[in-house]
Order: sequence, then C-alpha cells, then structure tokens
Amino acid sequence: MAIETIEWEDGRIKLIDQTLLPNEFKQIYCDDLPTIWEAIKSLRVRGAPAIGIAGALGAVIGIWNSTANTYEAFGAELKSATDYLATSRPTAVNLFWALDRMTRTAEENKHLPIPELKETLLAEAQDIIEEDKAMCRAIGQHGMALLNENDTILTHCNAGGLATSDYGTALAVMFSANEAGKQIQVYADETRPLLQGARLTTWELMQAGIDVTLICDNMAAQVMKEGKIQCVIVGADRIAANGDTANKIGTYNVAILAQVHEIPFYVAAPTSTIDFALSTGEEIPIEQRSAEEVTEGFGRLTAPKGVKVYSPAFDVTPASFVTAIITEKGVAHPPFTDSLGALQEE
Ligand code: MRU
Repeated sequence: MAIETIEWEDGRIKLIDQTLLPNEFKQIYCDDLPTIWEAIKSLRVRGAPAIGIAGALGAVIGIWNSTANTYEAFGAELKSATDYLATSRPTAVNLFWALDRMTRTAEENKHLPIPELKETLLAEAQDIIEEDKAMCRAIGQHGMALLNENDTILTHCNAGGLATSDYGTALAVMFSANEAGKQIQVYADETRPLLQGARLTTWELMQAGIDVTLICDNMAAQVMKEGKIQCVIVGADRIAANGDTANKIGTYNVAILAQVHEIPFYVAAPTSTIDFALSTGEEIPIEQRSAEEVTEGFGRLTAPKGVKVYSPAFDVTPASFVTAIITEKGVAHPPFTDSLGALQEE
C-alpha cells in the first residue's frame, strides 16, 4: 500500500481508521495513551502485527513527554504505559511481544541520557515496522510457491496490508503470486460480526486487481463442495508451540470444512506470532467482545433488544487441521513442535 497502515509523525501516531472502511478513508492521530488504547480496543487499528506496532508506538507515546530525570522514574513511566496498553486486547501475542521488546530496549540502554533513550525507543519501534515489512514480503515469497496457476483461495477475516505494516501475511501470498504473474482468484468470507473480510479484504484485493468474490461465512461449505476452492490461507493472532492456531472467530469452522473436503489449510504468520511459551492452544486467552457488536454492529438492531449474546472474537484451530504454516523463515510442516522449534533456533 502506498499509505502506511500506522506510522509515527511529528510526535504522534498516525493510523488509518479501519472502522470507517470501505465507506470512508480517513487517517487519525493518537497523541496520548487513552487514544491509542481506544484505537486498538475498538479495532481502528487491528490485525496481530499492526496491533504489535500500535503497542510499540504507544509505548513511545507513553514516555515521549516525560520529564523524568532518572532512569528509575522514566522506567516506571514506561512500565505504566506498557501495562496499560497490554490491557487493550488479549489474544494477539504480537502486542505483548512488542511491549516486551520496548521494555528490554529501555533496560539495555538505561545508561543513556533520557532524551537519547526516548529516541532509542522510537528507533526500536521504527525497526519493528521495517522488520514487519520485510517479514510480510518474505511470507509472500515462501507462500506463493504453494499456489498453482488458476488456483482459487478462500480466506477469512483480513490478514492484509491493513493488518500489518504493509502487504499482509495471508494476503501477501496472494499479492506475491499476482505480482509474479500467476492467475489466482480469491473467495473472501464476510467474517461476522465486524465484517473484516467484506469491508477490508475485498477492498485490498480489488485495489490490487485480484479477482475476489465475497461470500457470507455460512456459504463456505457449499463453495468447497462445488469444487471452487483449491486451498485456504488465513492469518493468525497467536500460534502455540505445537501449531494450534488462534485466529478470527470462524477460522476453526473453515479448517474443519477444508479437512472434510480434502483442501489444504495454510496459516501465514510471522514468527513474532508464535508463542513458544505455550505448549498448546488451550492456554491462548480468547478475547470476548460486546453484545452490541453482534446485535447492532453497524448501527441497526438485528436482534431483539436484551437478547443474551456470547461473542468470542477468536477461536483456536487444532494443529491437526493445519497443512502448513508459512513464516518469513520458510514453510513449517507437521509435526509443528519440531518444525516451528527449528525455526526458533535460526
Ligand atoms: O479482530 P481482528 O480484526 O484484529 O482480527 C484479526 C485476525 O484475526 C487476523 O487474521 C490476524 O490478526 C492476522 S493479521 C495478519
């Protein structure tokens, strides 16, 4: 994308407000912690890698105007900022990965004068953005080798440029194949309740000139049965060491359907999305969202007022449903404990 999903501009965070897409393209500024926290919570900025970047830049916002003159006081301000940002969304591990990295950077550079330490932290956040861009490109290159001429891919939610610094993870594979001249088509699940597939994925693919067809989530089985899909590619919010994968609610449904129809199911994610501290997906915290997102997501009541609602934002697809995990370091195959472990060693 020519326009950055999220960036630093003159002491503020500038980001595309994704809640308004595709009707309105608007960039907003966040110059204090509550504003960036709210932007993450309400999905103005969303997608695991982009949430990580928002966390890193948010940590900078937390200390940018600090008047502390000892490292102890400065470190306490940074800790209070990172602790607060960590409460925004629980599932995408990239947030915690980025916040830890910012804390480590501060600790490693605590001998620096505070003004230089601030610049060092900003440079670290910028590095996270640049590394993310490179990882997305590499995921695209590794993943496109899995696609054949004329394949049609099903994807769920949005794992595109909007969900990362640029180019995406699952969509990176499609962008790379398209740029290499491979003919591909895509079916995009609408992705209830917040319609990231309908609003964002189709928008990105259409801009790239890729043939995309929108379906409601409950149409995937029929579309697969009709033989229209050659593989599924989705992103991830957190992958356990054994390959169990948390992604947008409904991903597990798609994985089951893919297995029944003998269609490969690929997960595309940077290694920063792998949580090696968790041996299985059982331990992944699942975010619960408000009832209103289901009953009146886009301003119109679509269920009786007061109806009971259950709204987990993510599900965990067991590793046994995953054909391969496409990372920036290469494609990992089952058994994932071994193949992901080997990637960690690199
Ligand atoms: O709730 P969201 O929109 O942040 O959920 C996003 C997803 O589930 C994506 O598939 C995932 O974060 C991967 S983004 C490259």
